[in-house]
Amino acid sequence: MSFSNELLKWYQQNKRDLPWRHTSNPYIIWLSEIILQQTRVEQGLPYFQRFLEQYPDVLSFAAAAEDDILKLWQGLGYYSRGRNMLKTARTVVDNYNGSFPQKYDDLIKLKGIGEYTATAIASFSANEAKAVVDGNVYRVLARYFGIDEPINSPKGKKLFQQTANELLNKQQPGLHNQAMMEFGAMLCKPKNPACGICPVREGCYAFLHNAVNSLPVKLNKVKVRDRYFNYFLVTDGDNILMNKRDDKDIWANMYDLPLVETDTLLTPEELFYLPMVKEIFGTDIKLVEILPLKKHILTHQRLHVRLIILNNQPVKLKEQYFFTPIENLQKLALPKIVFIFLKNIFNL
Ligand code: ADE
Repeated sequence: MSFSNELLKWYQQNKRDLPWRHTSNPYIIWLSEIILQQTRVEQGLPYFQRFLEQYPDVLSFAAAAEDDILKLWQGLGYYSRGRNMLKTARTVVDNYNGSFPQKYDDLIKLKGIGEYTATAIASFSANEAKAVVDGNVYRVLARYFGIDEPINSPKGKKLFQQTANELLNKQQPGLHNQAMMEFGAMLCKPKNPACGICPVREGCYAFLHNAVNSLPVKLNKVKVRDRYFNYFLVTDGDNILMNKRDDKDIWANMYDLPLVETDTLLTPEELFYLPMVKEIFGTDIKLVEILPLKKHILTHQRLHVRLIILNNQPVKLKEQYFFTPIENLQKLALPKIVFIFLKNIFNL
């Protein structure tokens, strides 16, 4: 039996009896989908029932006061969703004569309805042949087909949508979509999936390759940190003051120059006022030149590096500082960006 047929068979036998599964009314499906975007099924159910009781159709919804919608929405959070619902209900009354759209191309234009929701409403209410891709579907596809492309990369999104489209049962797209989501939510769960009772495990890449826990792959969207590196160039004519880096940060154990790091870009006056700077160079700082910032991108860091040339001698040498002949620079392991600064100054 094909994947799709196995899936539908499983769904018919195991699906939860949820109220929005008994209707093809796009208004009711819309109501349920917007609420379920915000919360889990158990918590969403009473909200769904209250909304439907109060506003049985889009006409009554559109006639509501915003305060009343927000009051009913209370506790779900993200209140702009509630406000967008009211805007959409009013648009449906004004532009669609109160008849809730069922075509993807109409739905996608409405406020608060994105690709997923438009696909869900169009396929559940009118069997439009489009494949939904939500978190559940990503997981099922990644595991079954062994797709290790990150689900949140542009390439991954395209690949998963394409795979879902190919898999879609074109005779029963609405049922197929519901079944995919239910299968992901109930059986092919993120943690401890029920592979022992899975009807499609014999064809499942992840099951056969012991990769259930490593799929799907998601890129960590770690925030990029900005760091400002102020390097000081000090020479006595023949020798240059260097720093040996410790093993705790980037460029572990390599060599660079005396460094004062800040997390914003400071003016020279602000910089020279810092205790760290005064400790090394004293209070009478003779600035020769500040070379323009160079940006250096690392995986999770954005370095803004500049070179500050001083006509000073250090008043105190830190333990990791030392003077070395300028011609010796070629032999030291320097970070590339530091080397480029020095190469330009000393014609290395
Ligand atoms: N989550 C989002 N849409 C759903 C639906 N139609 N049924 C169950 N869970 C859902």
